[in-house]
Amino acid sequence: MTTGLEPNPYERAEWRATGDGLLRPGGLALTDRAIKYCALPAGSRVWDIGCGLGVTVAHLVTRHGLEAVGVDRSEALLDAARSRTPSIPLICARGDALPCAAATLDAVLAECSWSVISTDRGGDRTNGDVALAECWRVLRPGGWLIISDVYARGVASIQAAPLGDGLCRNLLTEAEIRTALASQGFAIELWEDHSAALNEFVGRMIFEFGSLSPLWGDDGDGPEGCTALKAARPGYFLLAARRNG
Ligand SMILES: C[S@@+](CC[C@H](N)C(=O)[O-])C[C@H]1O[C@@H](n2cnc3c(N)ncnc32)[C@H](O)[C@@H]1O
Repeated sequence: MTTGLEPNPYERAEWRATGDGLLRPGGLALTDRAIKYCALPAGSRVWDIGCGLGVTVAHLVTRHGLEAVGVDRSEALLDAARSRTPSIPLICARGDALPCAAATLDAVLAECSWSVISTDRGGDRTNGDVALAECWRVLRPGGWLIISDVYARGVASIQAAPLGDGLCRNLLTEAEIRTALASQGFAIELWEDHSAALNEFVGRMIFEFGSLSPLWGDDGDGPEGCTALKAARPGYFLLAARRNG
């Protein structure tokens, strides 16, 4: 399932040793915030794209009574997810090619996966628009797209290199994200900054592993990467947008 795609740093063993099984900032509190805002009733059909170890999927089922399905490109992560929670439905597929009929879902979640999927093909962000178009296709009109992810709070966005495979490899500004969603037929109704969660997450990972290199490799540690990162001022956002049309 990985042919033609960039290497997947989230398959490293260290990620499975991070404790709560969530490969991102914000914890399940951020998920709960979004589900509450969108007022998704029990039984709603939701796909979690880039679901990793399936922790959110299990939570959506048990806590919110949703009909949730997890999708990830990584068989290794899905196997680990099945070991954690055998009962949850999981599909190995790419976020830009969902095996799902058109206009059938009430919500799509992408928790720290849109930025990753965006650069899965060749390093630039072109796959991000393809993934948004795919979310639009599978959502019913008025359905919700929920994204939490990294972004650039500074004036400068970072496009691809020099930051290697790291969390902040590609950062768009809020304006760029708003433009991307609008151009793919989404109307943003909720935008919140949760950058404190990113700081907490990065700090926790550094204390646990000594540096971020065991998680993402050494790329991006050079002076060019550091300068770009500083200018971009990485932050974390949560958004909820409705599918137009
Ligand atoms: C930062 S992790 C987030 C995982 C999960 N959402 C969570 O909350 O823990 C990014 C996830 O996206 C997955 N991923 C990367 N590229 C993908 C693609 N093209 N299609 C589907 N999943 C992808 C990775 O395997 C990884 O599980």
